[in-house]
Amino acid sequence: MSEQDIKKGLAGVVVDTTAVSKVVQETNSLTYRGYPVQELAAACSFEEVAYLIWHGELPTRAQLDEFTRSERDKREIDPQLVDLLLSLPRDSHPMHVVQTAVAYLGAVDPHADETGEEANRRIAERLYAQLPTIVAIDHRRRHGLDPVAPSKDLGYAANFFHMVFDEVPAEEIVRAFDISMILYAEHSFNASTFTARVITSTTSDMYSAVAGAVGALKGPLHGGANEAVMAMLEEVGTADRASEWIDRALAEKKKIMGFGHRVYKNGDSRVPTMRKAFESMVEVTGDTQLLDLYNAFEEDFVGRKGIYPNLDYPSGPAYHLMGFDTEQFTPIFVMARITGWTAHIMEQQAANALIRPLSAYDGQEQREVPADRG
Ligand code: CMC
Repeated sequence: MSEQDIKKGLAGVVVDTTAVSKVVQETNSLTYRGYPVQELAAACSFEEVAYLIWHGELPTRAQLDEFTRSERDKREIDPQLVDLLLSLPRDSHPMHVVQTAVAYLGAVDPHADETGEEANRRIAERLYAQLPTIVAIDHRRRHGLDPVAPSKDLGYAANFFHMVFDEVPAEEIVRAFDISMILYAEHSFNASTFTARVITSTTSDMYSAVAGAVGALKGPLHGGANEAVMAMLEEVGTADRASEWIDRALAEKKKIMGFGHRVYKNGDSRVPTMRKAFESMVEVTGDTQLLDLYNAFEEDFVGRKGIYPNLDYPSGPAYHLMGFDTEQFTPIFVMARITGWTAHIMEQQAANALIRPLSAYDGQEQREVPADRG
């Protein structure tokens, strides 16, 4: 086998079919179940999009009412899980905390190994309903604050703010957050979704597949980029320093976080919508300095390299202006992507083939184990 036959990083390899979402490389577009993601972000709530991703169709009013009622009933996490979260070191990585919580939910679920439509929906909805509670408790414990119980009277996004900050902010902030959740919900065979599908292909359970996906999402080349973008912008500091900072980073062969994409080479269709949401956060907070830096940095880097921003570029600073700690940005991504992951897990189960590629060996030739090993 020649080097050319090897598709490093599986770049350009089509491994299976999916009906969940479609990424069109040529037009840089993304649809969920046939609907363009930017249209969903303009017209729908995250709850409607979650329903769409799982059921294949947008819900009617009655279906949405039933779906949100069921989610609100499942938000509370069991007291032992609260104790477990509070017992973890305060400086544990928040994605390790999320992964631990997902594994715990599997460990205490006597039906974790059940499959089939009803069992899958039950586990997926449980994770979807409880991840915000887990992330919010983790945020608060790092600030030495007690958990705030979920409210059944609030929508998904508003309830998350309520559990993190003990208050619900202005409507524009809640809406901007909701939009980010819609944009992050699903993205075909990205690294974490593919991880979930690999684990599922061994006929392992949904909790195990999600815990593995959380691990894949943590990396800065994938979900961890939204945090890395904010850390980078903070390091740069002000718009007038962007150019010099980029000079140095490129000289050191560093990857610029929030730019570039394996599939989209001419821009990411989610960016304009998220950029608008970021701008609305700038309007609410009055932090024009961050917007100036954002614009100057983007203009400079795109001008030099022709590498465009991905969704993480506007979402990182938007979450910052919403008041979230940088280290919680990737766990927030988990809260959205749980919908896509679990839809793919169900799809993989329904038409499974063990995912087990081949490798080209380039190690030692076969040899004998020496009798005398010194
Ligand atoms: N900064 C600097 N150079 C870059 C970047 C970047 N962000 N992205 C690509 N390049 C260069 C790369 O160095 C390479 O140059 P050369 O041909 O001279 O070696 C060329 O562009 C092609 O890049 P690649 O690494 O082969 O492309 P890839 O498809 O493997 O990488 C990527 C995609 C997302 C890993 C990469 O663009 C990257 O590391 N970006 C920064 C991290 C980031 O923002 N990740 C979030 C991705 S989107 C959201 C998600 O999936 O979670």
